[in-house]
Amino acid sequence: MMVVRIVLIVLGLVVLGGAAFAAFAWRSEIEPISGETAEFGADLLERGAQLAAVGNCIACHTVPGEKAFAGGLPLPTPFGTIYSTNITPDPETGIGRWSEEAFRRAMREGVDREGRHLYPAFPYDHFTRVTDEDNRALYAYLMTREPVRAEPRQNDLVFPLGFRPLLAGWKFLFLDKGPHQPVAEQSAEWNRGAYLAEGLGHCGACHTPRNALGAADSSRHFGGGEAEGWIAYAINESSPAPIPWNEDSLAFYLRNGWHELHGVSRGPMAEVTGNLGGLPDSDIEAIAIYVASIMGEPSDQRRAEADRLLEEVRSDAAKSGDVVQAVDSVVQPQGSDIHGEGAAIYAAACATCHESDRPLPFGGLDFRLSTAVNAASPQNIVNVTLFGLPPADGEASSVMPGFAGALDDRQVGELLAYMRARFSGREAWDGVEEMVRATRSGDYPVTIRPSDGIERAPTNVGAEY
Ligand code: HEC
Ligand code: HEC
Ligand code: HEC
Repeated sequence: MMVVRIVLIVLGLVVLGGAAFAAFAWRSEIEPISGETAEFGADLLERGAQLAAVGNCIACHTVPGEKAFAGGLPLPTPFGTIYSTNITPDPETGIGRWSEEAFRRAMREGVDREGRHLYPAFPYDHFTRVTDEDNRALYAYLMTREPVRAEPRQNDLVFPLGFRPLLAGWKFLFLDKGPHQPVAEQSAEWNRGAYLAEGLGHCGACHTPRNALGAADSSRHFGGGEAEGWIAYAINESSPAPIPWNEDSLAFYLRNGWHELHGVSRGPMAEVTGNLGGLPDSDIEAIAIYVASIMGEPSDQRRAEADRLLEEVRSDAAKSGDVVQAVDSVVQPQGSDIHGEGAAIYAAACATCHESDRPLPFGGLDFRLSTAVNAASPQNIVNVTLFGLPPADGEASSVMPGFAGALDDRQVGELLAYMRARFSGREAWDGVEEMVRATRSGDYPVTIRPSDGIERAPTNVGAEY
């Protein structure tokens, strides 16, 4: 009797709990629209195009080489693979039957038209900040793209994450819903920058580390994360850049994709800067003001070190002729003898460009200024060394050949150990060779994207050069 009663109570609780959860997770369907294309003004469409570029919608919603916005791109996550959806106005397989209200709800709350919760691989934890007005422009822009019939692909997630109602729990914990609230003590420009960077620009999706459940760790805002096989360096007070960033250098970099004291943007960041290039100057400056304020003023010590470094680099560059020798005389590599092979590879394969007097973005950066050489992880320098830097389509942009075919894992290890010791003076990197192996074999998949937004397989890059 007793046992039966306990079983009944437990069952009752499970049912009640289940019902409560179902109510908590339930979202209503929003009525479909007829599918006839509404009329939108040219101004609205132009703004929508700009905003879509800031949000980089096309990158996640397009399989390289296929129709724009038709979805199907696999996004690997620690929990399995999620496929982006078709956001063209096709009525059957895209968002052709979505009203503006349904679109706004997806952006603000991560819920689709039929009421299903969406995975935060769609960065609605950032897009929730977008104003109704800007959502209208984005909606107008998407609803006027070419409709493409493309069925969404099945996600491949670890059990039980395929069950979407669970996402209600994730949102309860981590989604801070609602448009950007201006901070009264800050200027209008700062607020504009915060709106763009935290919202559509979703800088934190890559630059803020994530917790075990894949949500942004807000205690380490902009503290450095990763994206598509690349390290997205810290862009707060712990930025590893040898020369501290400031409003001017940030604005220049975000607009042009390179800066003479910081090098070029690579991997997913190349695409970000490529997209931001189309924004009005005032918006770029606003983002730079906001990010610079998050970075804060460098300490006196950091500033003094940077001044010293800059003076050193500039005086070397000014010395005529053999820059290689000049650099050697200033920076004595610690234990250079053990890096004999690395030094030889460097001199033969890298110095020709990186110690030429050619200015950026076509000449290589002096490695003493490189964040990649000074960062805690060598991943980005491994990527660049193996796969090179592709040119952007139709543009004269920086080009570096990939060395995947010319150097084996051990040689790349030797080369990077030498570069680290010679150019950064920081502690040696561990496990470079294993990282090279994993990167080369695709165990650690890296996407190389030029700024035209079309992803290319890394293996093509060397061949193209
Ligand atoms: C980092 C990758 C990424 C970016 C950037 C991105 N999306 Fe998505 N989006 C996704 C993924 C993945 C899904 C599917 C989520 C799911 O199935 O739960 C999605 C789903 C959506 C949906 C729901 C569609 C449906 O049929 O359910 C809409 C609407 C959408 N995205 C619009 C946008 C817009 C507008 C932008 C640009 C402002 C954008 N996305 C940028 C990854 C992205
Ligand atoms: C899709 C991922 C992604 C997004 C979104 C993104 N970044 Fe980046 N960012 C990266 C990666 C990866 C790097 C490192 C690239 C490299 O090695 O050149 C980077 C590098 C940078 C750097 C250079 C840091 C240094 O010291 O060299 C700055 C500055 C920067 N990002 C700012 C921003 C801002 C501001 C935004 C938002 C407007 C943003 N990023 C959005 C991935 C991203
Ligand atoms: C054909 C010329 C060329 C050669 C050869 C070359 N590079 Fe580059 N490299 C460039 C250019 C151009 C850039 C882009 C400007 C920049 O950021 O330094 C670049 C960028 C880099 C960067 C990014 C630096 C930063 O932080 O911005 C790294 C790392 C790098 N190269 C490593 C190497 C290594 C290692 C070798 C030799 C194995 C090499 N490069 C050979 C032209 C070259």
